[in-house]
Amino acid sequence: METRDAIIGRRSVRRYTEQPISDADLQDIITAGLYAPSAVDLQPWYFVVVRSPEKLEELREFMSEVYDRTEPVLLKRFAKHPAIVAETRVFLKSLGDSQCCILAFLYKPDYPDKRVVMQSTSAAIQNMLLAAYDKGVGSCWMTAALSAGMDEDLRLKYAPEQGDFIAAITFGYPSYTPKAPRRKDGRYEII
Ligand SMILES: Cc1cc2nc3c(=O)[nH]c(=O)nc-3n(C[C@H](O)[C@H](O)[C@H](O)COP(=O)(O)O)c2cc1C
Repeated sequence: METRDAIIGRRSVRRYTEQPISDADLQDIITAGLYAPSAVDLQPWYFVVVRSPEKLEELREFMSEVYDRTEPVLLKRFAKHPAIVAETRVFLKSLGDSQCCILAFLYKPDYPDKRVVMQSTSAAIQNMLLAAYDKGVGSCWMTAALSAGMDEDLRLKYAPEQGDFIAAITFGYPSYTPKAPRRKDGRYEII
């Protein structure tokens, strides 16, 4: 696949089939993350790949609580778009039936400049989304646990030796074709 096609064609996918991702594809997706650029080559990320049915079920229960805590904010923010709230509810409570969810953390708790390590980890996440799309695997980058104030609970549960929780990313084969949200105008200038 052309890089541009992956960049433009990738969508956030919130419902998946039950087909598992092969070990080889998963390894390629993780490797794409590891090859992201990073500030002063710190490679400051740590990924917990949740894949076993038991651990996925445990994570679903956790995310269900994340939804309950964020619902009031969502109802306010999307007062005119109840379908978005309904979709988010189903997604967070079921993880869209995803067969694999990667939790991204900072590798160390004590980086002197959080801003650059967060940017580096975000680059790694985007690499994984694009590598997944290239293989026909859908994904969704999720920070709802941060908004719910449950990031530290996630860290203590899944990566107590590591640093901040950055995001959860669901992966799986899409069970529908998502539409691209319209890209907003006025978001760049060339000088
Ligand atoms: C930092 C970040 C956090 C996000 N958090 C969530 C989330 O918590 N729940 C969710 O359903 N989607 C989440 N998304 C996905 C966005 O809603 C999605 O990228 C956006 O609507 C544009 O759609 P697209 O990815 O299909 O282009 C997040 C995306 C990013 C980059």
